[in-house]
Amino acid sequence: QPRLAVLVSGRGSNLQALLDAMASGALAAEVVGVFSDRPDAAALQRVGAPMRWSEDARAFPDRAEFDARLADAVQACHPDWVICAGYMRILGEAFIERFRGRLLNIHPSLLPKYRGLKTHARALAAGDSDHGASVHFVVPELDAGAVVAQVHIPVLAGDTPDTLAARLIPREHALLVAVVALATAGRLAERDDVVYCDGQPVLKALTL
Ligand code: GAR
Repeated sequence: QPRLAVLVSGRGSNLQALLDAMASGALAAEVVGVFSDRPDAAALQRVGAPMRWSEDARAFPDRAEFDARLADAVQACHPDWVICAGYMRILGEAFIERFRGRLLNIHPSLLPKYRGLKTHARALAAGDSDHGASVHFVVPELDAGAVVAQVHIPVLAGDTPDTLAARLIPREHALLVAVVALATAGRLAERDDVVYCDGQPVLKALTL
């Protein structure tokens, strides 16, 4: 069974989507650890205590020290894939290099648009009619790694950042489960910033 480490900071609905897909048999994988930079993250409660790891990142003198501790904890559970599912802290280069090629992130925008935070508000401010989410391989530059797949939603008259987020989240769940299924089936790889699916380069993000 492919082993997943999942990094979380908040609510954990994307983690829950992975757990539900495993429970229903739609995803052949197991979550071997859930890791958080915030000990109060609700997401941690979605798995049993032996699977949880958290340290308060803000209590560490610098990013590198927290990252080293996190990387050791993740490594200790021997994951095949490391999934950032609402992990809101920037990962340092040492962490990323250690797991590069098997480190995925879900981001709530149609990358390369709106790297970073407040993606829904930025899409609205720009007058976009099309919004969405992306799953990408993580590289040291923030939200800049090769995109595997995206989902799209329309922006409707009267939308606010909250209504957009609410309309997007179920589509995020489906997107993350689908990409993790490809990854755990051994069908996904990344080399030199190019995604390969079934050995073929993915020149444009897959649309789900
Ligand atoms: C999701 O919308 C995810 O795309 C976003 O945080 C939310 C987490 O929700 N991630 C980022 O913004 C990463 N920069 P969840 O905790 O319910 O899965």
